[in-house]
Amino acid sequence: MLVGLQHTHWLLAALVLIVLSVTVLSMVIGLGMKAKFNNFANRVTLFSLILAHLQFVVGLVLYFVSPLGMKAFENPDVMSNAASRFYAVEHIAINIIAIILITVGRSGLKRKTTDNAKFRHGLIFFGLGLVLIMSRVPWERLFTLPF
Ligand code: HEM
Repeated sequence: MLVGLQHTHWLLAALVLIVLSVTVLSMVIGLGMKAKFNNFANRVTLFSLILAHLQFVVGLVLYFVSPLGMKAFENPDVMSNAASRFYAVEHIAINIIAIILITVGRSGLKRKTTDNAKFRHGLIFFGLGLVLIMSRVPWERLFTLPF
């Protein structure tokens, strides 16, 4: 089960980063070109939200079964060791904040009445979400195929 979850989490991580980057880029372009908030912009924000939520669910289960999650607290040095603190505290905390920002970003779009306001709102929330996720991704593991 652990290996299956790790593989799923790895695959979703790659998908979240790609789709979220496309979302942020489309917000920048839409804002810069004063474009219409069209179906594509709507779809990418929705896919970002779905993938981020899926990743949250898989990550949460992983947190309870992986030796790098909750179990890491069995070691009294968990906080003083940067490597164990990374997964046990930083990775989960920062990613949950990022997923909340993405959720607020998507739900807030409906309340914006102009295309410009939608792109600006999307850029702020999805952009912040992306920056936070990127700040706590274990890049060396993302670029190592787990299969
Ligand atoms: C979009 C957000 C997230 C991204 C991009 C992400 C990315 C990653 C990556 C690339 C790994 C290494 C996977 C591997 O080497 O096979 C990892 C591991 C892990 N992630 Fe996440 N993650 C995210 C959110 C979360 C959340 C919200 C949680 C917990 C609620 C979580 C819990 C974990 C745990 C416990 C591990 C260690 C798994 C192990 O190797 O045993 N992640 N994450």
